[in-house]
Amino acid sequence: MINKLISVFSGSNKVSISPRPYINHSVEFKKSNTPEERMKTLEKVGLNVFFFPSEMITGCDFLSDSGTTTMTNEQWAALHLGDEAYGSNRGYFRLREQILKTFGNDFFNPPEKGKPNAFLFHQGRACENALFSIIGQMGTNLIIPSNGHFDTTQANIEANHITPINLFSLEFKNGDEKFRFKGNMDILALKKLIKEKYNSIPILYLTITNNTGGGQPVSLANIREVSEIAHHAKIPLFFDACRFAENAWFIRKYEKGYSQKSIRAIVLEMFSYIDGFTISFKKDGLVNMGGGLFIKNTGLFTKKYPHLIDAIMNFQIRTEGHPSYGGLSGRDIMTLTVGLKTVMTDEYLNYRINQVITFGEEMKNAGLPVQMPIGGHAVYLNVNKFYAGTKMRGEDFGGISLTALLLGLYGHRACELGYFAFGKYNPNTRKEIHPEVNFVRFAVPRLRYERQDLSAAIVAVKALHDKRDKIPPVKVVYGRDLPLRHFKARFQFLPKFH
Ligand SMILES: Cc1ncc(COP(=O)(O)O)c(C=O)c1O
Repeated sequence: MINKLISVFSGSNKVSISPRPYINHSVEFKKSNTPEERMKTLEKVGLNVFFFPSEMITGCDFLSDSGTTTMTNEQWAALHLGDEAYGSNRGYFRLREQILKTFGNDFFNPPEKGKPNAFLFHQGRACENALFSIIGQMGTNLIIPSNGHFDTTQANIEANHITPINLFSLEFKNGDEKFRFKGNMDILALKKLIKEKYNSIPILYLTITNNTGGGQPVSLANIREVSEIAHHAKIPLFFDACRFAENAWFIRKYEKGYSQKSIRAIVLEMFSYIDGFTISFKKDGLVNMGGGLFIKNTGLFTKKYPHLIDAIMNFQIRTEGHPSYGGLSGRDIMTLTVGLKTVMTDEYLNYRINQVITFGEEMKNAGLPVQMPIGGHAVYLNVNKFYAGTKMRGEDFGGISLTALLLGLYGHRACELGYFAFGKYNPNTRKEIHPEVNFVRFAVPRLRYERQDLSAAIVAVKALHDKRDKIPPVKVVYGRDLPLRHFKARFQFLPKFH
């Protein structure tokens, strides 16, 4: 009888919308306000959405997927088991076990060995600062190539007088809409660079997934090939591993030979090719704060620069804390230990990435110029295509106007990651130097929003797109020539185009 019923209804139980794999544990009601109130507040903060009070956001907050995760009830329970001892707290040992399970046995030496190679920091950029401060002391004219450095990574490299270089894949540069691994590094460009500048490259970096390159994944074939090239040239390879689980999901879904593998097996293979990694746990650690720098004890970095590991430890003790807690409280370490387990489960990852993909596809179906294919954590709107046919030029910073109006008029906060965030002002020529990408990013916080919330955001962006020729340009009134200028600048709407 049971089998008969299942077979009779088997066609119709495959509905297009499935329930979420979780229920709400607790919720927060938003405060209401009007577009006039939001627009006035926006004006006060110089149209810089970073300074807009989050309590006034009535729609979705897409500013970042970083640290915005809704924690699970198991994480909240683990938080209460936090041990706030000054050294070697309970969570440290539990985290070690989880790191070994997740990333492999070589990234966390036993504490009793007295040779730490796992360094906890309060967030990702603090790890980057530690690593590049130490590497920066190795010499002059150094360069660090990547498939796409994130903005803080780039800033920390530059602050240490090293030159960051982005070797985006050709498919990314050509805007190929079909290729599934646009986050890859351009192999030919890498070979050429190594040939010309071998002595200037202390390490290589791969960002997984490639946030600056549109949240696109990197294939295992590319990781393997970059690793072979790097190791042949005796250059250690590092991951910026913030979204390692999301990257593994794409490998399983789209890379030949991986569809039957577990996420754990894929992650272990990915990390077997590298010599160290920095990570912000605020993404695939599923926590609100935390970062780490891990050096493989059998890797090339350890062999080539053994003295640097001690220097990293000294840096960590001086700036954050003892290696057994670094920049983290005992309770944060406990929530991270649970988060790292949850992030690798199929129920979590399938739902997470499909939610982002559905959001992007619905935005595309609404006629909006979404970067395809859709990446793991965010939907990227192509600003140049959004304004095609209008008077908006690159130096009018239409992405800033768009994010300001979306927030002011409709209550949704997105982030310009394009000509303003990644561009530079040349005071000599008084001209803007535009980067290759011009996006507005809608980063989807983990486990936070329902489909209705995301649909409401699409309707709002569509309303702006319908009247795009009425969107005004902005003038930069402060901060045009500052480093990391998008975090600090102030703007004003201009009444008309130049
Ligand atoms: C790829 C990447 N690397 C590094 C970072 C920096 O991490 P954190 O914000 O924890 O400093 C981020 C943060 O968004 C990121 O996306």
